[in-house]
Amino acid sequence: MACEKINNKLFAAVFIKRGAMPLALSLLMIVLPGAAHSATARINYLLHCSGCHLPGGQGNPPNVPTLHQELGRMMGVAAMRTYLVRVPGSAYSSLSDEELTAVANWILEEFNAETLPADFVPFSAAEVTRARQESLSDPLRYRIEHWRDYEQ
Ligand code: HEC
Repeated sequence: MACEKINNKLFAAVFIKRGAMPLALSLLMIVLPGAAHSATARINYLLHCSGCHLPGGQGNPPNVPTLHQELGRMMGVAAMRTYLVRVPGSAYSSLSDEELTAVANWILEEFNAETLPADFVPFSAAEVTRARQESLSDPLRYRIEHWRDYEQ
């Protein structure tokens, strides 16, 4: 409930912001495709994830996990690689596979730069398409089996 409320507020805020600077955004997309790509991922994160995980990604432990640092460490374990797009909040979001791929890569770069293995290969859309079809009905159990419980 609280999440939905925050989400709606955020939705409005992002839309007002977007409406106020369409020219700046279009220019960015033409001049800096890379930057525009990550700007889109950031906006999609704000619209689809931040209602619960908060705009800064810190979440609200123990109810909503943080997206900082631990995900980067998980990327060193094969079974955990696609975990972040298989949790219900990701897998069932209304984002397209391409958009979710960009958001997942953005979360790792933005919130997990210090812990991400140096040889990490960013997700491809094909990988996310496959993984998403195997959404986790019990993410906590999967996490404990293949990684560990949340730090209390
Ligand atoms: C309605 C609230 C909500 C929304 C919206 C949401 N999440 Fe979550 N997320 C959770 C909760 C609660 C968990 C804990 C596992 C569970 O119960 O699903 C979680 C777990 C996660 C985890 C695992 C973290 C860990 O350390 O195990 C990741 C990664 C994640 N979410 C990413 C996302 C992304 C990406 C989005 C947006 C596309 C998103 N979530 C949207 C509530 C949400």
